[in-house]
Amino acid sequence: MISKIVFPSEESIALAAASLLDGRLIGLPTETVYGLAARGDDPTAVESIFFAKGRPRHNPLILHVADPEDALAIFADDLHPVLHRRLVRLIPLWPGPLTVIGPRRNDVLDCVTAGGDTVAVRIPDHPVALAVLRTMKSIAKRPIPLAAPSANVSNYISPTTAAHVQAGLGGSVAAIIDGGPCRVGLESTILFLGTSDTPPRILRRGHFDLDELRDRLGEHVESIAGEEPIRAPGQFAKHYSPRTEMVLIDNEASPNDSPEVLRIGFDAVDETGNQWTFATDGSLATAAANLYGRLRQADETGFRRIEVVTCAETGIGMAIMDRLRRAQNSEV
Ligand code: TXA
Ligand code: MG
Repeated sequence: MISKIVFPSEESIALAAASLLDGRLIGLPTETVYGLAARGDDPTAVESIFFAKGRPRHNPLILHVADPEDALAIFADDLHPVLHRRLVRLIPLWPGPLTVIGPRRNDVLDCVTAGGDTVAVRIPDHPVALAVLRTMKSIAKRPIPLAAPSANVSNYISPTTAAHVQAGLGGSVAAIIDGGPCRVGLESTILFLGTSDTPPRILRRGHFDLDELRDRLGEHVESIAGEEPIRAPGQFAKHYSPRTEMVLIDNEASPNDSPEVLRIGFDAVDETGNQWTFATDGSLATAAANLYGRLRQADETGFRRIEVVTCAETGIGMAIMDRLRRAQNSEV
């Protein structure tokens, strides 16, 4: 397949912005994972995202913008003061790996929200994504939000490099801008603003954890932990699975003596053919950044089974374990 990967330059960014304005798809780097971007105000362009990914139409998309005032403008004008205050308190976390869900303005497309009355909004913290959004804004003379899910084929592992996007969706995009490996490596934390009489609620774990969001909001924040049903569609199990059988094992598990079985852990150990680590420096932030890349690599290497050792569920470890549980496709 022809490579669609281009390096960031004034020219490639201008071309990407023009392609997006024309309704085409672009693979876009963000600090979390690569996005499959289309202009979010054009139903035909948005439709092509669902088609390219094989994504169910009932799974809503996040709108990405460059500036806080453009983010605010996507939510309902008559936002309840309680929700408005929560939103304003979250703005300092942008640009950053946080998606906020709240009541939508009427003109947000139904295909973006899957017909729902809320919308998901984020300002990505990546110079390339911001440059593309600002270039579009200056050409169109108004902000054009980008709808962008993770740029993986539905149900496969999210992409953290341009090569990952090329491998899955190279045939569907006009170009993929190579902004290097994603710094965070896990999808954004999703926070639902709640209602005037219910607290804000984390719908997807990520870089910003419960304590950080509670401190920032100055009030109680609910978490999805162990609760059913899960609010966000698409948050079902096996959302991020490798094709190879994958199981989670605890640290006490017996040694791995089969060359056909790969074991991946979180300690700073020397790797061997069937013993890898997500974190060469032993840190969970490094493990998060490497998680999807190593799972893809493991999937391609032809092992019979991938065994992943669990990590401590503190800070970003909560998000890592959340993704690993979803990726698990077998029982020990
Ligand atoms: O880090 C990220 O958030 C990346 C980058 C590209 O920005 N994007 C991303 O998008 O992870 P996606 O589509 O792969 O995941 C978005 C999640 C989905 O589970 C979707 O169901 C949920 O957000 N979502 C979007 N809009 C929603 C809404 N109005 N209500 C509830 N859940 C929503
Ligand atoms: Mg996704």
